Amino acid sequence: MPDTIIKTEILIHDLKVPISVIDAGAKSLLNRQDSYGPLTDKQIKVLKRIIRNTLTTQRLVNDVLELGRSREGVMITSDFPVSALVTSVIMEIFDLYDPDVAEVVRKIKTYEELEKAILESGARLSFDPKVWKTMVHLDEAKVRQILRNLVTNAIKHRSSFVEISGKIQEKMLILKVKDDGRGIPQADHQKIFETYFTTGSSIESAIKSHGLGLAGVMVLLKDMGGTLILDSDQGKGAEFTVTIPI
Ligand SMILES: Nc1ncnc2c1ncn2[C@@H]1O[C@H](COP(=O)(O)OP(=O)(O)OP(=O)(O)O)[C@@H](O)[C@H]1O
Ligand SMILES: [Mg+2]
Repeated sequence: MPDTIIKTEILIHDLKVPISVIDAGAKSLLNRQDSYGPLTDKQIKVLKRIIRNTLTTQRLVNDVLELGRSREGVMITSDFPVSALVTSVIMEIFDLYDPDVAEVVRKIKTYEELEKAILESGARLSFDPKVWKTMVHLDEAKVRQILRNLVTNAIKHRSSFVEISGKIQEKMLILKVKDDGRGIPQADHQKIFETYFTTGSSIESAIKSHGLGLAGVMVLLKDMGGTLILDSDQGKGAEFTVTIPI
């Protein structure tokens, strides 16, 4: 690996510590009012926003490091149930978009409860109960990153719902993420997988979109011998299907 890349990655890696300090400080103020003093509702709201955003920053740092790990082709595989993978991604994303739902999801035990809890926020789950409980042998961090990116995009672009479904066929894990948004015109089907291609043009989306998500997904899939199929057109919503050998 070239020295400059290692140096950049170590700098990014070292961001973890100050971010954790910010996170711990904000959480202390929020959760230990007995020793730090009482807070107003407005102060609590601001602190919660700080905590949510330190989480986002932590995730970004992890994603960058994960991409680096991927470039080196390092695989860390383990056995885990499909349910753990999907639940953790849902929890991460709701923590950002709807913390109240994330709080509920955290305590949920069964598929049926989870399905019901997130449906009210426009997220549909469609898993065969048998698939939901199946153990797979994969690099969990990589699969989680793929799913997280696809679901985040779907939420960003949806009009009213996103649907996450999964099945297992011939030793392949097939995950599908679908939304009912404005869709992706045929002319952009290649471009969206290029690094730094993004249609986010407003100031707000310039902050949120880097055009890196799907490029990262493709690198991760390549490492795992997986494939991606995009089914979408202008005004038709978008459906991303990834197939990963288990
Ligand atoms: N579900 C979707 N519906 C419509 N367009 C999409 C969808 N997913 C991706 N795109 C298009 O593909 C582009 C690239 O997506 P990608 O995830 O790589 O980057 P991003 O979401 O813009 O930024 P980042 O993921 O780095 O925060 C998006 O800007 C958007 O134009
Ligand atoms: Mg994205």
